[in-house]
Amino acid sequence: MINQHTAVIGTQWGDEGKGKIVDYLMKKHDVVVRFQGGNNAGHTVVVGKESFPLHLLPSGILYENKTCLIADGVIVNPEVLVEELVSIRKRITKTAKLYLSKRSHVIMPWHIVRDGITGKKIGTTQRGIGPTYTDATGRQGIRAMDFTDSKRIKDLIKENAEFNRVMIDSILKFYQIKLSQKEKSHIKTATDAQKITTDYLRYFKKLEKLGVELTDSTELLNGYLSKQKSILFEGAQATLLDIIHGDYPYVTSSHPTIGGIFIGTGCRPRDLQVIGVSKAYSTRVGEGPYPTELDDKIGETLRKNGHEFGTTTGRPRRCGWLDLVALKYAVSVNGIDAISLTKLDVLSGLETLRIATAYQFKDKQIKNYPSETWLREKVKPVYKEFLGWNENISNVKSFEKLPKTAQKYVSFIEKQIGIPVKFIGVGPDRKELIVR
Ligand code: IMP
Repeated sequence: MINQHTAVIGTQWGDEGKGKIVDYLMKKHDVVVRFQGGNNAGHTVVVGKESFPLHLLPSGILYENKTCLIADGVIVNPEVLVEELVSIRKRITKTAKLYLSKRSHVIMPWHIVRDGITGKKIGTTQRGIGPTYTDATGRQGIRAMDFTDSKRIKDLIKENAEFNRVMIDSILKFYQIKLSQKEKSHIKTATDAQKITTDYLRYFKKLEKLGVELTDSTELLNGYLSKQKSILFEGAQATLLDIIHGDYPYVTSSHPTIGGIFIGTGCRPRDLQVIGVSKAYSTRVGEGPYPTELDDKIGETLRKNGHEFGTTTGRPRRCGWLDLVALKYAVSVNGIDAISLTKLDVLSGLETLRIATAYQFKDKQIKNYPSETWLREKVKPVYKEFLGWNENISNVKSFEKLPKTAQKYVSFIEKQIGIPVKFIGVGPDRKELIVR
């Protein structure tokens, strides 16, 4: 039984396979909403034999009878939005109606230059995410609504471009970073107010032509709620990348946790079911602590069998065992009702499986997720071992038909976290999903 509204939230470090469960749940919802992040996200939606890599668009975009909303809390690169829409429209003529919040902040070329310029190792996606949110909270940002007034936007871009050129110069001086001629000329282009104004006004015009409607998305969404339309909130990134609740500073700059929905949409849906998505193992891209990371042959096997390479950046993902300390934390932070456990099939063929149930630090066992990121760099996982299975499980349609060892593995997770595993992914195809 699916509740009226559903939130799909990542419980790990992103890339849990949220796209597939969003796609499954889509049928039961009218409106699909992105509420945070930007084009740092990456998921592939498979329709029939075709696959569509999406970064910024809500997954519902592929379905004519759905309404899609890029809400207030999302930051938007309009050039990317145009590219994504144009490339989809080449393959599907009738897509969903798309609304873009007037309040959404816009990623400008200088944000992309500033992303990672200090050389501090966070391993961002280099899409300008951190600097755009920084300017938003610093009350320095440019919002989609600013592009409806060409005089206003011209002045805003001029001021911001000049300010950013000075800021970038100062950062480079402070960190004693020497640039090549090519890099210098890139910064010049990325702060060229006149060119940027022309380009960005063109992108917004193009979006209008593509049927994207700039709107007060809070009003729109609350209107849908009062008309009893069912809403699917599509999370991007994940709990452990949350700017407050994640492994700070190895995080993204938005709120992928449940609170991000309320902040990022300006609505409070009642009857909201929260589905947490977790891989049957774990992966992480970018820097940061990862106690259950496998730097060995098993890690390589997971990477190879699970095709663990980033959709957005192509980077090989770090791979490891499932971490229940982290999963329990994600369940509590988000008030998760049920888990969608993805990629169980990737574990097929491994002789012994492990799940971390606690961390060991010196002579102390830690059962709760420590807020000190530095401590998570030092802990050793305490593992429970399980027998693996050799069968190919991709055609299995019910929990009871899974090999007994696989059932044991899943049941152990359920028991430990205290909520049901309602969906189990057993292969990449949308049909390869056990629903309980
Ligand atoms: P940013 O979001 O580009 O600022 O990157 C900050 C951190 O979040 C880096 O470790 C990224 O690798 C990670 N990250 C951002 N988006 C995703 C995602 O969609 N999946 C996995 N990791 C992500």
